[in-house]
Amino acid sequence: MMDDAQAAADETLAAQASGTETSRRETGGDLHATRRARMMKRVGETGAAIFGANPVRNRSNDTNYAYRPNSDLWYLTGFEEPEALVVLLPGHETHPFVLFLRERDLSIEIWDGPRVGVDRAQEALGADKAFPISALDEELPKLLAGRSEVHYALGIDEALDASVIRAYRKAQRAGRGRTRSPLSIIEPRDALHEMRLIKSQAEIEAMREACRVSAEGHVRGMRMTKPGITEFELQAEIEFYFQKHGARSPGYPSIVGTGANACVLHYIDNRATCQDGEIVLVDAGAEVNWYTGDITRTWPVGGTFSGHQRMIYDLVLNAQMEAISLVRPGLDYTEIHKTTVQVITEGLIDMGILEGPVEKAIEEKTFRKFFMHGTGHWLGIDVHDVGAYADDGASSRKLEPGMVFTIEPGIYFHPEEEASPKDYVGIGVRIEDDILVTADGCEVLSAAAPKEPEEIEAIIGLDA
Ligand code: GLY
Ligand code: MN
Ligand code: MN
Repeated sequence: MMDDAQAAADETLAAQASGTETSRRETGGDLHATRRARMMKRVGETGAAIFGANPVRNRSNDTNYAYRPNSDLWYLTGFEEPEALVVLLPGHETHPFVLFLRERDLSIEIWDGPRVGVDRAQEALGADKAFPISALDEELPKLLAGRSEVHYALGIDEALDASVIRAYRKAQRAGRGRTRSPLSIIEPRDALHEMRLIKSQAEIEAMREACRVSAEGHVRGMRMTKPGITEFELQAEIEFYFQKHGARSPGYPSIVGTGANACVLHYIDNRATCQDGEIVLVDAGAEVNWYTGDITRTWPVGGTFSGHQRMIYDLVLNAQMEAISLVRPGLDYTEIHKTTVQVITEGLIDMGILEGPVEKAIEEKTFRKFFMHGTGHWLGIDVHDVGAYADDGASSRKLEPGMVFTIEPGIYFHPEEEASPKDYVGIGVRIEDDILVTADGCEVLSAAAPKEPEEIEAIIGLDA
C-alpha cells in the first residue's frame, strides 16, 4: 500500500474508533482541499496534474443530456460545471491550485443558470488562480513549464487531449534545456484512483446514505409489484423514491427485467409487462451527493416463488451470503469470486444441471453458461468505481478497511442457451449488495433491502 493510501485508511480507522473526528473535519469546506493536498503529495514537486470536465453530450437537435461532472474533477474540487479544467502544481509558491472555467455571461445564465465565473473562483472553490477556459491554449504551457511529469488521462476527451499535448510540446520548447520541461504524461490512476478507492469517513457516510435510499427504493418496488405492472412503471416507482429522498438521478440506467428479460445482463429496455408466475430482476441504485448505491433484488411478480425459481434463488443467495461472510481486511479480493463460483457450481451439479465433478466443472468453466459475469466491482462516485483489482505483479489484492465493493452473483437460463434445462428456461436471478470493509469485518450498506425469500414474499404487492 502506498503511503497516503495508508494515511487514508488510518484516517478512516481513527474516525471509526473515535466517533466522527474525520467526518467533522472532512464535511467542512476543506474536504476537497484535503484531497488536493494529499494528491499533490503523491504527484510530488516535479510533477503537475490535469483534470478536465466531462464534455456536454448532445441528446437530440439542440437538447443535451443532463450534465454529470467528471468524478475525478468533482472529487478534487466539488466543482460541477462543464468546460472546466484543474491544474495542480505541487509546491508552487503562489498558485498550486489553478482552475480554468467559463466566464460569467448573463445572457447565457438567464437560460442555463448561474456560473461561478473567474472572479468568484477563489472564494467559491478555493482556487489560487483562475483563468477563463478560453485562455487554456495560452496559459497551460506556462503552467507546465518547469514540471517533469504531467499526470493526465489520455484518450477520454480527444479535444482536450489535443490541447494538453500542444501545451506539453510548447512547454518543452520554451524550456530549451534551461529549465525542467515535461518529459512524460502519466496516467493519474495510481496517484488519484488509489486515493478514491479507500473511502474516508465522510465518504462512508455518503455511501451509507446512497445505499440506504437505494435499498428503500427496492422495498418500494416490491410493495408496488403486482401482475400487470409494466417494467417502466416499476422503474418509475423506484426512481421516484430515489429522487424524493435526495437522489439527483439513478447512478446508472435501472435494469428492470421480468421473466426472460432477467437473463439479459444489461437489459434497460424496461418496456414489458410483468406477468403472474414470473420473477422480476431489478438492478437499481440511487446517486445521492455524487455517490451511488448498486443493488439487485429479484422477486416474484405474483408474490410467491415457484419451486424452480426458489431453488435457483436459494442457491444464488447461499453463494452471496457465503462470500459476504468472508469479507475482512487481508482477504484476497479474488476469494470472493472463487467462493461464489464454488457454491454455484456445486449447487448446479447437485441439481443435475451441470456435470461433475466440481473441480472439472470449474476448471473447464462450464458454469459460465449460467453464471457468466464477475462477482463484483469497486463502488463509489462511479458505479464501477476506480482502483486497481490487483497489486503489481500479483493476481489479486488484499482487502483494506474503507474499500467498498459489490457482491453480486447470479444464475441465468437464457432461452437461447441450448444448455438451459427445460424447467428453468427464462429464470434469471441476481442478488447484489454493497459491502464496506471495516477494521474487523464488513458492513452491508444495502442491508435495508430484504433478500430472504420469505421476507420478500411478505411485502410484495402490499401497496399495489
Ligand atoms: N448495475 C451495474 C452492475 O451491477 O455492475
Ligand atoms: Mn454492480
Ligand atoms: Mn448492479
